[in-house]
Amino acid sequence: PTTRHYDLVISEGQGWPDGVVRDMLFINGKFPGPLIEANMGDRLVVNVTNKLSKNATTIHWHGLYQNGTNWYDGTTGITQCGIPAGTSFVYNFTLTQFGTYWYHSHYGTQYSDGIFGPLIIHGTAGESDARKLYDRDQIVLVQDWYHDFSTALLVAYLAPDNENTEPIPDNGLINGQAWFNCSSYSADSGYTCYDNNTYTVLTLPADTRTRLRLINTGSFTEFEFSVDNHSLSVIEADSTLVQPHMVHRLPIHVAQRYSVVLNTNQSTGSNYWMRAEMVTFCFTGDNPVLDATTKAVISYSGNDSIVPSESLSKDWGDATIEICQDLDPSLLVPVEQKIPPAATTMWRIDFSFGIGGNQLDRAKVNGTSWTPLMNTTTLMEVNKGVSTGNASLWEVDGQVTEPWGTDQFVVGVGGREVDVVDVLLYSLDEGSHPFHFHGHQFWILETGSGPFDWTSYHENIYTSKSTAVQNVLRRDTLTVEPYGWALIRFVADNPGLWAFHCHITWHMEAGLMAQFVSRAYVLGGTELPADVTALCAAQ
Ligand code: C2O
Repeated sequence: PTTRHYDLVISEGQGWPDGVVRDMLFINGKFPGPLIEANMGDRLVVNVTNKLSKNATTIHWHGLYQNGTNWYDGTTGITQCGIPAGTSFVYNFTLTQFGTYWYHSHYGTQYSDGIFGPLIIHGTAGESDARKLYDRDQIVLVQDWYHDFSTALLVAYLAPDNENTEPIPDNGLINGQAWFNCSSYSADSGYTCYDNNTYTVLTLPADTRTRLRLINTGSFTEFEFSVDNHSLSVIEADSTLVQPHMVHRLPIHVAQRYSVVLNTNQSTGSNYWMRAEMVTFCFTGDNPVLDATTKAVISYSGNDSIVPSESLSKDWGDATIEICQDLDPSLLVPVEQKIPPAATTMWRIDFSFGIGGNQLDRAKVNGTSWTPLMNTTTLMEVNKGVSTGNASLWEVDGQVTEPWGTDQFVVGVGGREVDVVDVLLYSLDEGSHPFHFHGHQFWILETGSGPFDWTSYHENIYTSKSTAVQNVLRRDTLTVEPYGWALIRFVADNPGLWAFHCHITWHMEAGLMAQFVSRAYVLGGTELPADVTALCAAQ
């Protein structure tokens, strides 16, 4: 194992990823941010310098466990306070896992404006069989894109009497670039659009197998990903390697990752469209400038002047997608079997949207609506509360009382023992929600819509007598369909404060966030690093 150093310098400026000029954010002067790449077992030391004119920032390592380093999880108000403008902060942790991840700002809606990048960790022995399935590796970032700065969109979204009408994207991007039809904007639209904007071109030599590492780095929409004339073999879902499963197109929601192997074995041409189609069925409202299919060119020959034919086969025809779900998790069988132990505790979390105080749109999570703490963090409060023996404040198995009096929904699990926790996440909303759990992978026990069968749950699943609860898929981000539910299980063996939230940036800012505090008694005995607590003192 080695120690790998990276420098990330956050700055603001103007950019035009699809030709339309806008204010945006950059890392090291680039968009998207640089690839961070390491081997399992390595130590990552990342120096983040905030060169923004006034806002703080943080970096979250999406999908990493941060076991023993919860304070480097990068979650504003939960594990750290923001890194003030004009200062630097060093994240320093060991990598105990491998797979496809990404990193992004976890401060407000900043990542929507450009603060993110891919994070790839190579496995040791655990990955060797998967490596026989492909010859080359290629990162493919797929995302929605807006032509306005996120804070302006957020103000409109959260305007009085506006109940959850999310901003509709203006375009999509693949690897930070895409074509846009400049004539969609009239001369007096206020937008400047450079006509020479163009598609991303990926050169994949003929008769090779490429592992496409798909990451949805967007803010709102689910995509269906496909490549004309080619099928795709899914081998990874969020960092879990799975038995190869063939698809023609694959849904990928915000913050999810998949690896698919693409074999360049066609002879009908040399250039093909890669397509990322927004699942517009899952949201209401429309945007006249939006072309819901974002494209990139796959070229066998490297000749990017050949326009791919539109007449190539799309095995799915032109059918639009009318479901807002993940690919059926039962089709993806983990290579490494990990049977979930029986549950020891269970929580139901309901969420919905409604007009709250001051007529503002708020998300409701079991009656609460998250707002980030500004000059302390939930982690610091729990740490203080437990270490001063004030355990009554910290009912570490159960819902945590909030001495600071705001609206945090914090559940204590595994106070003194390790709990195995079931969560029934229940949507009372008409949209689809990609839920992410920090610091863990969870098993997906069941998903559905309508009523939940409590009898069968108590008789079979809770006690794990059910064969359905065997080698089920584990991941860190799953889609809860409209008015649907998901039953997940995790082992609460990772001391820390772990955010559990919808990854749609607009929803998170409306408060769609819960937290789990795991092993609070372990945390209470831990001294937080001085540089982490200093961030809060600097607010
Ligand atoms: Cu990708 Cu809470 O984060």
